[in-house]
Amino acid sequence: MKFLSLLTALAVLALPSVSDAEDQGHRGAQVYMKSRCFACHGQLGTGGFGPKLAGDRILAIQQFVIAQILIGRGKMPAFGDRLSDEDIAAVAQYIRNNWGNHDGPVTPGEVSSVRKLMKKASDEAAKAETPEEKR
Ligand code: HEC
Repeated sequence: MKFLSLLTALAVLALPSVSDAEDQGHRGAQVYMKSRCFACHGQLGTGGFGPKLAGDRILAIQQFVIAQILIGRGKMPAFGDRLSDEDIAAVAQYIRNNWGNHDGPVTPGEVSSVRKLMKKASDEAAKAETPEEKR
């Protein structure tokens, strides 16, 4: 009996009961908590150590948001090595669409392309710093 109810619970969990959009929203909230974004930006995006995200108009610039999360800047740590494209897309979408923000979806594909752009830029910067004979 116990085994059966466990099976039922698993089956219910596996069911695609919510839409993909809702799923991503849920994942975004989880990443926001798990990666401790909330510790600096506030659980409700009100800011603190980091800037306030509620009503932050810079969030409308999607590539900026993705890049900020990937490489960090100033006192914010980088998350590019710790989070998957899916997690970064989910958390970027979450902060862009909560607390009165309406800045649209973010897909893992978009995160992947910003990752590539950033890698190219840093490779080029490294190459420019390397003396000619060491190339
Ligand atoms: C240790 C504190 C800290 C953590 C953790 C942190 N941030 Fe930040 N964040 C900052 C600070 C400080 C800035 C401002 C950076 C600067 O310009 O110097 C910032 C800037 C940003 C910005 C740009 C906003 C703006 O107006 O410039 C976004 C978007 C952002 N963070 C999202 C996130 C997300 C998403 C997470 C979690 C994955 C996160 N941050 C985790 C401190 C933090």
